[in-house]
Amino acid sequence: MKTFYIETFGCQMNVHDSEKVIGTLLERGYSQTAEPADAELILYNTCSIRDKAEQKVFSRLQQFKKESGKGKVFGVLGCVAQQEGERIFDRAPHVSLVCGSASYNKLPELLVQIESGGRRVTGLSLDTEDTFETALTRRDNPHRAYITIIEGCDKSCAYCVVPFTRGPERSRTAESIFKEARELAQMGYTEIQLLGQNVNSYRDPSPDGMDFATLLRRVGEIDGLKRVRFTTSHPRDFVKEIIDAIDGNPVLCNHVHLPVQSGSDRVLSAMQRLYTHADYMRRIEWMKRSPRRIALSTDIIVGFPGETEQDFQQTMALVHEVGYDSMFSFKYSPRPNTAALGLEGTLDENEKGRRLAILQETQRSIQIRRNAELIGSREEVMVEGYNPGTAQWIGRTSQNRTLNFTDAAGRQFGPGQYLDVLVTRSGPNSLAGEAVN
Ligand code: SAH
Ligand code: SF4
Ligand code: F3S
Repeated sequence: MKTFYIETFGCQMNVHDSEKVIGTLLERGYSQTAEPADAELILYNTCSIRDKAEQKVFSRLQQFKKESGKGKVFGVLGCVAQQEGERIFDRAPHVSLVCGSASYNKLPELLVQIESGGRRVTGLSLDTEDTFETALTRRDNPHRAYITIIEGCDKSCAYCVVPFTRGPERSRTAESIFKEARELAQMGYTEIQLLGQNVNSYRDPSPDGMDFATLLRRVGEIDGLKRVRFTTSHPRDFVKEIIDAIDGNPVLCNHVHLPVQSGSDRVLSAMQRLYTHADYMRRIEWMKRSPRRIALSTDIIVGFPGETEQDFQQTMALVHEVGYDSMFSFKYSPRPNTAALGLEGTLDENEKGRRLAILQETQRSIQIRRNAELIGSREEVMVEGYNPGTAQWIGRTSQNRTLNFTDAAGRQFGPGQYLDVLVTRSGPNSLAGEAVN
């Protein structure tokens, strides 16, 4: 059994975890296949953030049920694995391996068990000490690299499964982060994304206890890096020093993702978000006052239990006030183990859908306006590829906008290359322009 297939769901942390899992498997002599049908070991790295995400893996497992008799071995990794544990074997009896993200350093041992015919093999411990072994990571993109700086989450937002699926916060030492970032820069990576569920609560576990703003500043000074991003920021722990760092170094991208979830203090308090509308707006003001034009994005949940029409209108008012450059918005989805399950005032799906549609329509018009403001400006892009359908090159700006462009001189560009583009047109989700000579 030496071939595997892996499909990844969920956030960037999961995408990066899969890169570590792939590295571990390659090291053990496995080869990766592009299709599940060609693999002997089929892995799903799963997400449990909303019910729909969780259902996806069970429908995938169902699809391949018939083939499981033909010697295929199935494994469920990630957040659904941690959440459901051994119950997965009951729901999908053809699964042999269930392993949460905190136990990936045990994968070599677990694979030995699987290879010798083991059934119901699990890695579900959340108190794993050294989850930061990065030597085997096989990065998918040769120019942009993820680095996890903090695992888990110590907040207890009432709607959220993450503290249960990824366990308590564990920060990695600043020294090992710098070492990995320097090695990546030497290998030719020019963009680094620092990852964590709440990067702002990063605290170096070694004695000097470096905080996130300092870490960010220092990563931005590493030779060879052109872009440094970070996600996700929790407003409660988001300090002004982060903006000062961005102001002081163009390598730190002028984009901040700061999930607000709701504009209503009543709902924020029920969500246990630990900040008010006013606290949040203070942080937005820091960014608006920055001499660099910092792009802002957010996450919003509509239809949290007890959310009234008035609460929803407060969210709409906040969205207008901030004028986000982009937004991820969701209908509240009840999740196992979470505090919100005990709350009254459940909204029906139609009402949640109505609010979501209004919010998304409004955000679309805000994005049309925000993107149009950039027409006539010159933006540096990192080339991501070429779209033969539109005959345009695909680029990404520091603000994390997609900027598709053509080149009058007919030059060829390669992924990972940087150049300046003049913005000439805009739409709700992207910009278009012409390469500058
Ligand atoms: N750690 C990040 C977010 C992690 S989850 C943070 O604190 O912001 C990404 C987004 O999914 C959240 O910001 C939230 O908007 C959404 N989300 C989380 N749980 C949800 C639920 N039960 N129902 C709907 N959306 C949810
Ligand atoms: Fe979930 Fe809140 Fe932690 Fe984000 S900060 S991962 S929303 S509990
Ligand atoms: Fe999903 Fe787990 Fe990420 S629940 S959003 S994959 S932390």
